[in-house]
Amino acid sequence: MANHGESLDRNLALELVRVTESAALAASRWMGRGDKNGADGAAVEAMRAALSTVAMDGVVVIGEGEKDEAPWLYNGEKIGDGTPPKVDIAVDPIEGTTPTALGRGNALSVIALSESGTMFNPGPCVYMEKIAVGREARGRISLELSATENIQEVAKAKGIPVSEITAVILDRDRHKELIEEVRESGARIRLISDGDVAGAISTAWPASGADILLGIGGTPEGVVAAAALRSMGGEIQGRLWPRNNTERQAAVDAGYDIGRILTTEDLVNSDNCFFAATGVTDGELLNGVRFNSSGAVTQSLVMRSKSGTVRKIESFHNLNKLRRYAKIGS
Ligand code: FBP
Repeated sequence: MANHGESLDRNLALELVRVTESAALAASRWMGRGDKNGADGAAVEAMRAALSTVAMDGVVVIGEGEKDEAPWLYNGEKIGDGTPPKVDIAVDPIEGTTPTALGRGNALSVIALSESGTMFNPGPCVYMEKIAVGREARGRISLELSATENIQEVAKAKGIPVSEITAVILDRDRHKELIEEVRESGARIRLISDGDVAGAISTAWPASGADILLGIGGTPEGVVAAAALRSMGGEIQGRLWPRNNTERQAAVDAGYDIGRILTTEDLVNSDNCFFAATGVTDGELLNGVRFNSSGAVTQSLVMRSKSGTVRKIESFHNLNKLRRYAKIGS
């Protein structure tokens, strides 16, 4: 495996925040307009433009889909200015296209980056079962265990009763039995309409009140969450979840082991990875983009696993100057 760790400079963190800020600013103008594709298109365009200026030789491992369905930020696209370091990139210009289109909470613009060859490539596997926890419960959970057993382990690790544990679960029909089991266990549930990257991060975020994420969500989102949890000292496990036999066969043909439990390290196999996210709409972790007479305000998170530093950044964007600057630059 390639080792470009030495050249993965910490300054990349700030570059990545610029990228997610750009995408979030573009996406936020579509908030509540009922147009998921319009919002996504604007975010993709802004993210790609910002990424192309970053000093790196990147390849999009997790992007907007295959080249024939995504003109930009497609899987396999080379991105950056082509200079070292060589990196793998996962982009999610809008994590939560539906909440953005409906003006609901918790939509983020997200990017993760790691050393070349270290990011899990989901291939045809759209969904996976997930379990995620923060630092205190790291090493205590397993997808081999039932939801009840995992909740009990988290409660023990945190030294609180099960009745005080909060499980985050995507509100989907496929989770009917899981939700019943968790209710039966005595734990509390936070049902989220979308956005299990924020859900996973919230389990490691001290003030969030969330303890464990359970359920089936997007595989790309699992990889992105792994980059964040590596930085926060948490843990995520995944197991591919084909929706039907065609998907199962496609995954097997592509060499994937369906039953295997993917650890945090399987998802991002590098202790020098970066994660950045900017709020598009208001959420538990971050405010969404706010406009005022002098421009716009964004809130972002940026993390680097090597140092374990998590930064929350509030930025004030002078949009008039940025517009002028863009014109001069072009
Ligand atoms: P999009 O932004 O692509 O719509 O994804 C949002 C999301 O809620 C993810 O956070 C989650 O992993 C996935 O969708 C769940 O998929 P589905 O909505 O098909 O159940």
